[in-house]
Amino acid sequence: MTIKRSAIIGTGSVLPKQRLSNEELAETHHIDTSDSWIVERTGIHYRHIADSDETTGTLATEAARRALKNAGVKAEDVGLIVLATTTPDQTLPATAMTVQAALGINDCVAFDVQAVCSGFLYALSVADSMLRTGTADIAVVIGAETFTRLLNWEDRTTCVLFGDGAGAVVLRRTEEEGKGIQTVKLHADGRYKDLLCSSGGPSSTGTVGTLLMKGREVFRHAVTNLVTVTQEALLSSGFDASQVDWIVPHQANARILDATARKLGVPSERVVMTVDMHANTAAASVPLALDAAVQDGRIKSGDLVVLEAMGGGFTWGAAVIRF
Ligand code: UT7
Repeated sequence: MTIKRSAIIGTGSVLPKQRLSNEELAETHHIDTSDSWIVERTGIHYRHIADSDETTGTLATEAARRALKNAGVKAEDVGLIVLATTTPDQTLPATAMTVQAALGINDCVAFDVQAVCSGFLYALSVADSMLRTGTADIAVVIGAETFTRLLNWEDRTTCVLFGDGAGAVVLRRTEEEGKGIQTVKLHADGRYKDLLCSSGGPSSTGTVGTLLMKGREVFRHAVTNLVTVTQEALLSSGFDASQVDWIVPHQANARILDATARKLGVPSERVVMTVDMHANTAAASVPLALDAAVQDGRIKSGDLVVLEAMGGGFTWGAAVIRF
């Protein structure tokens, strides 16, 4: 029997117009930091900051448009939109509705997923399951954030780390032998929810709140969780690390990416790293990095690709995909 899988047939991404270097950021927001501290501890050189006319919805729509164009798929053929975000345009409705309306799709399944930096992996898993069970034939999966709207610019331990952006993939149900998403493994452990959270929300404070993070503790868990879940995903799909062509990790910190690859035994040349150019964009970072590597020709048809992410909750996950 042929196994039905969903395959990534197109990717797209977008960054806001405004780009700030570490020095420009420090100067604009009067932050007591330095380019050398930020580069040495995180690998970040630049982040993009959304203007008032750029929202999670507008960025998500543009990323989706580019992914559809690259896939050669018309918007009217999309049956499912799953959008991962921590920073929706409105508390309700879901930002996926903004994307659906902007793309001119009058009837399809559309909703948001919230799993912070692992959001894209969660959204991919949900969309993959729904395609396999016949909800739709074609899905757009988006990770989009205006994360800088949550930042406390007086907290130098967090405000230098994040940026805004969006990335998207088009998934299509396929029966092509060996292609597509082989497995997605997801985890969550709410005991750690206060290590990376916001100070408010509609139901608690009636405000959006600002970002709070105990960075050193998050760092410690990140490497262990990412290594374990990647090994779990590879084992479950019958591969080992030596067969991986590309790892596309959540772009939080270059040191986390390096340490994870080292422990997995994957050479650093096989890791897609874009954190230097756009900092940590939460749910948008995996599809942003994926699109960069597809567009510049690194990821090619037939490659075995691992996506992995870890974030607030804690939540974490990994996907093994044959392109
Ligand atoms: O996306 C979800 C996942 N998130 C992450 O994966 C983030 C994980 N954490 C990290 O990436 C790192 O822990 C950070 C980049 C947040 C911090 O790096 P670190 O090497 O863990 O630094 P630290 O927190 O141990 O701080 C070292 C020093 C402290 O000074 P003292 O106490 O040693 O005097 C900080 O106050 O660096 C100081 N510091 C800064 N100095 C200049 C903290 N932030 C800054 C700053 N500029 N922006």
